[in-house]
Amino acid sequence: MTQNIGILTSGGDTPGLNAAIRGVGKACVSRHGMHIVGFRDGFRGLMENRTMVLEGGALSGILTLGGTILGTSRDKPHKMPVHGKMQDMTETIVANYHANGLDCLVCLGGGGTQKNALRLMQAGLNVVTLPKTIDNDVALTDTTFGFDTALGIATDAIDRLHSTAHSHHRIIVVEIMGHRAGWLALGAGIAGGADVILIPEIPYDVEVVADAIKARKRKGKPFSIVAVAEGAVSRQEFAEMQLVAAKKKDKKVKEPPAEAELVYAERTLRLAHQLEKLTGLEARVTILGHLQRGGTPSAADRLLATRLGTAAADLIEQRQYGFMVAARGELSVPVPLEDVAGQVKIVPPEHPWVLSARGVETSFGD
Ligand code: F6P
Repeated sequence: MTQNIGILTSGGDTPGLNAAIRGVGKACVSRHGMHIVGFRDGFRGLMENRTMVLEGGALSGILTLGGTILGTSRDKPHKMPVHGKMQDMTETIVANYHANGLDCLVCLGGGGTQKNALRLMQAGLNVVTLPKTIDNDVALTDTTFGFDTALGIATDAIDRLHSTAHSHHRIIVVEIMGHRAGWLALGAGIAGGADVILIPEIPYDVEVVADAIKARKRKGKPFSIVAVAEGAVSRQEFAEMQLVAAKKKDKKVKEPPAEAELVYAERTLRLAHQLEKLTGLEARVTILGHLQRGGTPSAADRLLATRLGTAAADLIEQRQYGFMVAARGELSVPVPLEDVAGQVKIVPPEHPWVLSARGVETSFGD
């Protein structure tokens, strides 16, 4: 029997989402003879039954487009602001799934989406997911689409900051996205040759960072690039956060969201100010922000998104539901949603990238 597939994108947008929508859609329709319909703005669109036709040419010409043609939101099925209050809209979502005659819902998203997809699966829906995020922090997949593009953008930014830092004999602190994971700052820091890389997984000591910068100055290099992940914290902040977490009897050190962007920016500005005082060099701050998520996806992201998207269609054709399609070497493998949801892939402090960075004299401020 012909299967009817729904598809949505949820969470922050990411380059490669359209390539993935196209991959899922074309393989579902042309290879497997299914029907596909899009839902706008993530789980909110499914709750409000706002659909988008994806057949008859709608999937053509979108491979190279940034963002998502479906629109996205951070709304969660079980906690959605409706009429000014947070409501559990799972029942409405389940009803709309059935009203559209769906056999499976494909959710493209990051860590939060995997959790929400699992909740819908537990509510009785057939679900398949794909891992997207520039943060690269989804568990059990080698990588996520969006990461490579953001890595290129952040690396290019560091390259450009180098020449101005060099000319003015300045420290430039560049804040790089990644939420609670340091993959993007670490990768771009290495690729762009940052002198200092600060990531959430390795709390830093500002004195140690300043010493590294002063040592460069003594060697005749009176400028430095500090690549700081937005979630990076000093040892002192880390200890304070742990105390607060312990008081709340919550083992995990959780931070921000309270206006996360502001919290991150304040920390970054403070760091630059401290480094200026400790080194005697002028410091400037560049916050790359949403630039890292915009624009054309890289070739690697288009390839990954197409590979995972078509693999998802093949999985659905076999009526295999309840999986995230993960990248494992050259393979695309189904991973049970229960194993992925709630896990965050952070940078192990002894990760080969960290060791390589240390090998080229990069300071982590530890
Ligand atoms: O998860 C992707 C991400 O870009 C993070 O790196 C960043 O912290 C966050 O989203 C920004 O979220 P928003 O789009 O809500 O500003």
